[in-house]
Amino acid sequence: MCVIERVLPAGVVAEESFGDASHDPASVLFPEEVPLVARAVPKRQREFATVRLCARRALGRLGIAPAPLLPDRRGAPQWPHGTVGSMTHCDGYRAAVAARSNEVASIGIDAEPNGPLPDGVLDIVSLPRERVWIRALSAHRPEVCWDRLLFSAKESVFKTWYPLTGRELDFTEAELYADPVSATFAARFLVSGPVVDGRRLSGFSGRWAVGAELVVTAITVRGPSAPAPPRSVDVTPRNLLTDP
Ligand SMILES: CC(C)(COP(=O)(O)OP(=O)(O)OC[C@H]1O[C@@H](n2cnc3c(N)ncnc32)[C@H](O)[C@@H]1OP(=O)(O)O)[C@@H](O)C(=O)NCCC(=O)NCCS
Repeated sequence: MCVIERVLPAGVVAEESFGDASHDPASVLFPEEVPLVARAVPKRQREFATVRLCARRALGRLGIAPAPLLPDRRGAPQWPHGTVGSMTHCDGYRAAVAARSNEVASIGIDAEPNGPLPDGVLDIVSLPRERVWIRALSAHRPEVCWDRLLFSAKESVFKTWYPLTGRELDFTEAELYADPVSATFAARFLVSGPVVDGRRLSGFSGRWAVGAELVVTAITVRGPSAPAPPRSVDVTPRNLLTDP
């Protein structure tokens, strides 16, 4: 099973890579994609190419022919008609997921190294109440970098949010709670949420998983013809929000 599959429901296909496929990114990119990273450093060129190989493999499993995956003005990949997807890369890891847009309205994935955030970052990306549960869980379950998990979950929130809204979402505009028992998280929007299938969403729910080296998170918003509800997600904040 792929690492990223641990946080995905049925119906979403995933491909991942722990290395780069080619030292010559241009050899695996479509001509339209090559200029997008022509001036980038080699590391960026390789991750851009490898994650697109992953994405094309995932799309292929849905019966979609290989096609360029070009970013919009905000960097969001434009997925082939009838599909949605998401991509992520960090040191030593690249992953892409795809699904049919009638089954999944939007999806966001993120992978991060399982290490603490650099000094000062948590204060920028978190709300005071989030820092309360991060402190509590860090004392109780120190093997998980809860600050990094929060960051990854917020990146997944944005990657799910943006294709639905076309709007920015600041780190302080969604409040997250991670459940250590069910390995789920809940994001509550502090601004007006997207309308999906005629219903305005007040938040997203997602899943997280942590290995020796990676934290991965994913959010899947069901589409109009989703065959069955995703595995039940317990997003109860339990006792994590008790103020100190
Ligand atoms: C865009 C962003 C989410 C990318 O996350 P990251 O952890 O830096 O990088 P990752 O490697 O995990 O993901 C990069 C991929 O995300 C995808 N991506 C970029 N912009 C995106 C967007 N607007 N919507 C959806 N996906 C996007 C792209 O596929 C990109 O890879 P590519 O450039 O090779 O195609 C991040 O840089 C950012 O802008 N964050 C600020 C907004 C935010 O996170 N708000 C928090 C809300 S609670």
